[in-house]
Amino acid sequence: MSDETKQSSCTAPEAEPAVTHTTLPIWLVAAFLILLFTSAWTFNERGGWFDAKVNQPFTSVGHVMAYQPRMNENPQIRLGKAVFTKACENCHDASGMGRQGTAPPLAGSDWVNAPKPDRIIRIPLYGLSGPITVSGKQYSFNLAMMELGSALSEQEVANVLTYIRQAWGNKAGPVSVEQVQAVKKEIGKRPNFTPEELQKVADR
Ligand code: HEC
Repeated sequence: MSDETKQSSCTAPEAEPAVTHTTLPIWLVAAFLILLFTSAWTFNERGGWFDAKVNQPFTSVGHVMAYQPRMNENPQIRLGKAVFTKACENCHDASGMGRQGTAPPLAGSDWVNAPKPDRIIRIPLYGLSGPITVSGKQYSFNLAMMELGSALSEQEVANVLTYIRQAWGNKAGPVSVEQVQAVKKEIGKRPNFTPEELQKVADR
């Protein structure tokens, strides 16, 4: 038994595998280089340089920040724009410039940019008809602006008025749902206003 053990431990180790040199196929080298190049390129373009805040499809911190909601941007403006597209754009145009023979401009309008919104709140709530002067220019339309107060919620009226007071370079303050409710409560039901009647509403 001890003989046997001795014998096996003395067996010569197996020959090491011979190192054979094979040439690397050129296509493999080329494929590797292409892979290296494209990964470096991809990393450079969209890797965000290991910044934990940056993930695809963003490429840099600046890119990510550009898509963050602005803390100081009133959400009424975004919501109001949607109301405008649905309820006002057909006549006043997406540019706010109005349409000839259909509606006057809201962009730069002295009605829209009045310090307080008490007059323009009445316009969508009750409608408007009769000759009108907007920023010194006289208009006369065949069709009135109909009331939209029954088609839009009080919040939607507040949002769309906030939007038109800030869009296209207009720079007037926001309109709250409470302001719209107050006007509705004060007036109740009534037919269209005329611009002349609205002029008498104190711009408070
Ligand atoms: C059917 C077309 C029509 C639609 C839709 C319409 N308007 Fe008007 N709008 C008019 C007309 C016409 C006048 C001028 C009324 C007049 O002649 O007295 C006017 C006047 C105005 C004015 C005052 C004048 C000015 O140029 O500043 C405001 C403000 C206004 N509209 C806002 C709106 C808002 C907000 C909406 C959507 C909620 C809207 N309008 C939807 C036709 C329209």
